Amino acid sequence: MPSSSRSAKDFFRPLAVGAPTPPTEIPARPSRAIHFFDPSNAKMAAKIPQMVGSVDVLLGNLEDAVKADNKEAAREGLVKIAQETDFGPTQLWTRINALDSPWVLDDLTTLVPAIGHKLDVIMVPKVQGAEDIHYVDRLLAQLEAKAGLEKPILVHAILETARGVANVEEICGASPRMQGLSLGPADLAADRRMKTTRVGGGHPGYLVRQDPDGSGEEAINGARTTYQQDLWHYTIARMVDACAMHGIYPYYGPFGDIADVVACEDQFRNAFLLGCVGTWSLHPKQIAIANRVFSPSVEDVTHARRVVAAMGDGTGAVMLDGKMEDDASLKQCLVMVELAEELAAIDPDLKKQYDAITLPGEDA
Ligand code: GLV
Ligand code: MG
Repeated sequence: MPSSSRSAKDFFRPLAVGAPTPPTEIPARPSRAIHFFDPSNAKMAAKIPQMVGSVDVLLGNLEDAVKADNKEAAREGLVKIAQETDFGPTQLWTRINALDSPWVLDDLTTLVPAIGHKLDVIMVPKVQGAEDIHYVDRLLAQLEAKAGLEKPILVHAILETARGVANVEEICGASPRMQGLSLGPADLAADRRMKTTRVGGGHPGYLVRQDPDGSGEEAINGARTTYQQDLWHYTIARMVDACAMHGIYPYYGPFGDIADVVACEDQFRNAFLLGCVGTWSLHPKQIAIANRVFSPSVEDVTHARRVVAAMGDGTGAVMLDGKMEDDASLKQCLVMVELAEELAAIDPDLKKQYDAITLPGEDA
């Protein structure tokens, strides 16, 4: 939906003379893991060309986690890597510095002319409202026109301020360039004044407790099961709805406890189940977790294909294994089947697994 400040007729007009026409649709491109690297770190940068093809998205990070003294080296490092690397099927993204920083203008005026033809998505941190997207939108159009780019660069916003969450729908609809949103749990926690000190994930103190078994102090202080709750459920769910409403894609963000691969997998899976299409990866071992979690399992794809086959023209209801399936459960199954097809097209291992599926009554 066009933002209120522009007529629907003008919404898809380039914002600068000679800039590429903005997209009317954001194609679904597999982006299970967005792997962050620091282009100012020579050791890390040297590994990037070998990672092409093994991860859906490589993201050159210029913002937080890059020291102020290294901002220019990171920007120049990203230009060099992008110019020297053939990214093949892997997308190249960058996270620019925040709009209130002294670095962001140079980030954009350097990157767009030098490597704009290779950049798929620019991630904008600490987005507060539609006005931030409008600023980037116009500036990108001017720079694209000047550089003679033919394909518009897409924009991704990080949801990491309280105001950003309050304005999440208008942010998603602020420009046809909007590709998606990521949750930024670390900055968001700070901005909200949450009393946590972690980068994403849960907290053992955020829980519900079973009622006491009786009354009196003994029962109150006795053994009572507790269940840790998900601190991020509300925000992820809001983000998913806002993105779905605008035809763009939601992502979980960083999971800082690199050693805890189990909790990382849980966090990623919760996001996948709620509707996210991918997540950030801060360490190569998180890529494998993300690729596994954000790809539908063989069991789910098998079930989905069975429902699709059983539902014929897609209307009415059938019983499968004692469960009712109808038009609505078919639609859920189609989401799964379509995602499996998109992923199989770029991931030969997955393709092999999905191709090996046989439905009851079919020959192996
Ligand atoms: C990511 O940028 C975060 O703040 O969590
Ligand atoms: Mg942040």
